[in-house]
Formats: sequence, structure tokens, C-alpha cells
Amino acid sequence: MKNNNLIFGTAKMGLSNYANNNGNRLLKDSNSDILNFLHDNGILKLDSAERYGDSHNLIGIFNQNKNKSFSVSTKVDNLIANDKNASKRLQKFAHTTIDKLNVDKLDILYLHQNDIKIINDPYILEGIEDLKSRNLINNSGISIYTEEELVSGLEKESFDYIQIPVSLYDSFLYEKILSQYSGSKVKFIGRSIFFRGFIFNHKSLNLKKFTDHHIFDDINKIINQMEVDLLDLTLSFLNEKSKLDSFIFSSSSIKNIEKVLNFKSKEKLQIPSKLLELSSQFKSWSDLRMH
Ligand SMILES: NC(=O)c1ccc[n+]([C@@H]2O[C@H](COP(=O)([O-])OP(=O)(O)OC[C@H]3O[C@@H](n4cnc5c(N)ncnc54)[C@H](OP(=O)(O)O)[C@@H]3O)[C@@H](O)[C@H]2O)c1
Repeated sequence: MKNNNLIFGTAKMGLSNYANNNGNRLLKDSNSDILNFLHDNGILKLDSAERYGDSHNLIGIFNQNKNKSFSVSTKVDNLIANDKNASKRLQKFAHTTIDKLNVDKLDILYLHQNDIKIINDPYILEGIEDLKSRNLINNSGISIYTEEELVSGLEKESFDYIQIPVSLYDSFLYEKILSQYSGSKVKFIGRSIFFRGFIFNHKSLNLKKFTDHHIFDDINKIINQMEVDLLDLTLSFLNEKSKLDSFIFSSSSIKNIEKVLNFKSKEKLQIPSKLLELSSQFKSWSDLRMH
């Protein structure tokens, strides 16, 4: 696992009430200390979004120092299907965001809306190509949760990157890609690798209303029996996912970030086949938008 495969996620940085955020930032580190630490350790790419509160501003202030700036991927929101003015709206977004982030161009511009009508909209797709020809973005992408969105994103080969959730609890989409779409030119990025932090704190997740909730308990049982560090287990699991171009990690604590960076010198753990099998199954509770 090399540092250039790592992208730092900034949702928690910009939103104090972000999902599964315990709100206690007293013991955590400041955003600028985190950005400094990341840069000093060779993590030079950030994942952001218009939706992540103050995140664009925070990154922009940090990027004022051109000797220590980040390449940024972000996500555009509130696009309307079948809108002839989509290209203008995208250009406005790109210019405003580039200025705010203090970058020359955006690395990956994702559509934040997963709606199939948006992903396949000809005006939006044309607008994105226009941003590329104007040198405002390097790449385009979508960020998805479901198989339907995956299929739709791959259909027209319009996107360079697709962001998918991949964790010990849920590698369903990753396995779909391996078994059915491994020939695709699209690059895949893994996110929510700690299942939005629930792997460390699963007591706050109530899945009783889902008929297949027992799979969550089965996975936890195997993990607990292993008596290993959860971060090492997650990173060993991801290390095997060779179809992932890179993955997004996130923490509000330098100590936890350091653990991710130190992992590359550690011996990788063997993942039990039963755990791999359970992780790759479809589960009705795995869409993190529901929790
Ligand atoms: N496009 C989309 O629709 C979308 C959706 C979700 C996420 N994302 C991107 O992916 C990024 C991260 O995803 P995510 O928020 O779903 O979360 P994640 O990476 O699965 O989990 C992050 C959580 O894990 C905790 N954590 C990390 N290392 C830890 C450790 N060693 N011990 C204990 N806790 C630890 C962090 O808490 P501490 O802060 O306490 O360390 C944090 O709350 C986001 O910032 C965003 O950039 C994109």
C-alpha cells in the first residue's frame, strides 16, 4: 500500500455533525495540523464536496502556500436533468471552486447526485467534456452506492472514475466489478473503508429492522475471534483489492492517520475465507445513506 494510493476524505473536516461523528473534537487535532501532517507524509490528494460544509474554504486557505498545496477532487451538486444550461452551470461551479480551493484545476470532478437521470443526462455529460477541453478538470467521476448506479455509470463509458464503498462489512460492489466488469477502462476508488467508522463503534448501529441483520453479527463474530487490530485487518483486506486504483481514508486524529501510514511496513493479515464471503454478499443494510 503506497502513499500515492491514498486520498484523504474531508467530509468530517468540513461538517461538525457528519455521520457517526461523536462530536467530541476536544481530544482531536486541528484541521490545519492534520493537513500539515498529511502533506509532510506524502498524502497530497484530498476528496471534498460542495456538500461538506466548510471543507472547500479550509483547503483553500491551506493551499495559499503554493509550496505545500493539495490536489483536490470534489463533487458538484444540485444539477437538473434535461437542462440545456447544464454546461454553463458546471463551468460556473468549476471556476468558483477552483478559486476557492486555490488550485489550477480540479483533479476529479464527481457528480454527487446518484440519480440515474443525472448520471446519464446528455447535457451534463457534454458539460463535463467541455470542462475537460477547457482544462478546468483532469477527470470526471461518479460516487455510487448501488448496483443500479454502477451499471448506469459504466454503460456509456462517460466517466474516468467511480467511487464505491468497500469495507469488511461490504464488498458487494467490488466483487460485482471483479466478476462482471473487470474489462472496464474506468478506474475505481474505494471509500467508507471503516464502514463510516462503525467498525470501531458498532453498538451505535441498530440493524434489527433488516431481515438479514444477522450477517452483521456473523461478520463481527469472526472479527472478534481473530483478536487483531481492526485497522490492520481493514488495511490487509484492502491490500488484496487490486482492482482499486486508490482508496479514501479519513480521521480527525493524527494518531489514527499515523496508524494508516505505518501499516505499509507491517505484515499483512490473512483474511478468513468465510469473512470474505460474507463481506461480498448483498445486504439490505449496507447502504450507508440509511444510517
Ligand atoms: N461521495 C460520497 O457519496 C461519499 C460518501 C461517504 C464518504 N465519502 C468520502 O469518504 C470519506 C470517508 O468516508 P466515511 O466518512 O464514510 O468514513 P470511513 O473512512 O469509513 O470512516 C471514518 C471514521 O473512522 C474513524 N476512524 C478512522 N481510523 C480510526 C482508528 N484507527 N480508530 C478509531 N476510529 C477510526 C474516524 O473517526 P476519528 O475521526 O475519531 O478517527 C472516522 O469517523 C469522506 O470524508 C468523504 O471524503 C464520499
